[in-house]
Amino acid sequence: METTPSSTIPTPNRTRQPGPAGVPSADPFVVVPLPHPQGCRGYLVADPASGEALALDVHLDLVSAAAERARDEGWTVRHVVDSHTHADHPSGSAALAEAVGAERVTHPAAGHAGVARTVADGEQLPLGALAVTVRHAPGHTPDHVVLLAGDHLFSGDTLLIGGVARTDFLGGDAGTLYDSLQRVLADLADEVVVHPGHDYAGRDASTVGAERRENPWLALDRAAFVAALTANPPPRPANMDALLRLNREGSPVPARTAAAEALHHVREGGAASIVDVRTPAEFGARHVAGSRLVPLDQLAGRIDEVRATPAPRLLLCRSGTRAETARRLLEGLGVGGLTVVDGGIEAFAAAGGEVVEGRAVISLERQVRIGAGALTFVGVLLGVLVHPAFLAVPAFVGAGLVFAGVTDRCGMALLLARAPWNRAAVEAQPSAGGTCAASAPAACAAGTPPAPGSETG
Ligand SMILES: [Fe+2]
Repeated sequence: METTPSSTIPTPNRTRQPGPAGVPSADPFVVVPLPHPQGCRGYLVADPASGEALALDVHLDLVSAAAERARDEGWTVRHVVDSHTHADHPSGSAALAEAVGAERVTHPAAGHAGVARTVADGEQLPLGALAVTVRHAPGHTPDHVVLLAGDHLFSGDTLLIGGVARTDFLGGDAGTLYDSLQRVLADLADEVVVHPGHDYAGRDASTVGAERRENPWLALDRAAFVAALTANPPPRPANMDALLRLNREGSPVPARTAAAEALHHVREGGAASIVDVRTPAEFGARHVAGSRLVPLDQLAGRIDEVRATPAPRLLLCRSGTRAETARRLLEGLGVGGLTVVDGGIEAFAAAGGEVVEGRAVISLERQVRIGAGALTFVGVLLGVLVHPAFLAVPAFVGAGLVFAGVTDRCGMALLLARAPWNRAAVEAQPSAGGTCAASAPAACAAGTPPAPGSETG
């Protein structure tokens, strides 16, 4: 597994929740949250006595972090569970199960390829001498399950902190969700800790009691719940169709994507998942509307911006070379779901893709040609007219060009990319909030309903 720098991955914290009135709980389970900048929350749930653990809803970007955390704790991950078919982010379950040698688990209604075990309502997943109980909780999706482990409820997208799941896609149903919430919560004590599948405000956990008191959705009767939940469906998650293919079929994101396929992807899910790694000047001269500029030399420092980009992420440059370098760099930093657009923006435009034209600049490749040619000419001239030592200049440039041709890494291009004229101001970037965080609460959370009785008809 690649090593993921702790400075760029959300640091998971071990949480052992206190019991009622601050009395330490006898709950034997240890929970490690795995939050993602997009608002998704995965978990490791472990029985420390046996060293056996379960992974739930791990984002593709956090597969390395989850595997490393389990290894550091000395845990053996036995089960890798998807609470439901995710439509808003790439699941890391297939990659994590393969990395740690665990079985993948879903509800039978999920029908995901490569799943070793399906579990129905009431079944148990053993961890040492303990067990995690599966409860079928359809509504958000027909295949949704929640997990009960001691004093912990892993509610997936069924119950969020102060919210509930949306039900307007993937066979969801508002009335069914209401029934599931009633059934799941009926037997649970107020002290049970709620670990949701999403939280877009950075909150860690809640309790059943707090949700009973403060979650406005739980105060509604069935008719009002259904009416409020179906009134204003939020926009669909970005790249939803591509994510469903990925999460259902388990097919990995290809390392490279043809320009025509990238165009199909953009028309289907929008351009918010395009990360353009060229220079600001190149981007200002011509770019795909809605794409995000993160120049190659800034990638490592802006890793969270890339993580907040909805996957699958399309890496774009002029021809594909810098995007390939970016893919390798990002994968080394633990970012998944990356694909390079073959032929870059030139091929994308040739395939019929819409691009925004701005102030023309000389391409980086032409700047390298001009620079190398000028240095060679001046070096030869000075070598003949002034001193033979100047012939070292064209020799050095020639060697550099050979090196660039063989390794596909050009030092002169990297230097020129930092030049002031290649750092021209560009239009405002689509913010993470505009492309992911703003749509993320709408992705699976239905938000806050009108206060009961406040409808004016
Ligand atoms: Fe969901």
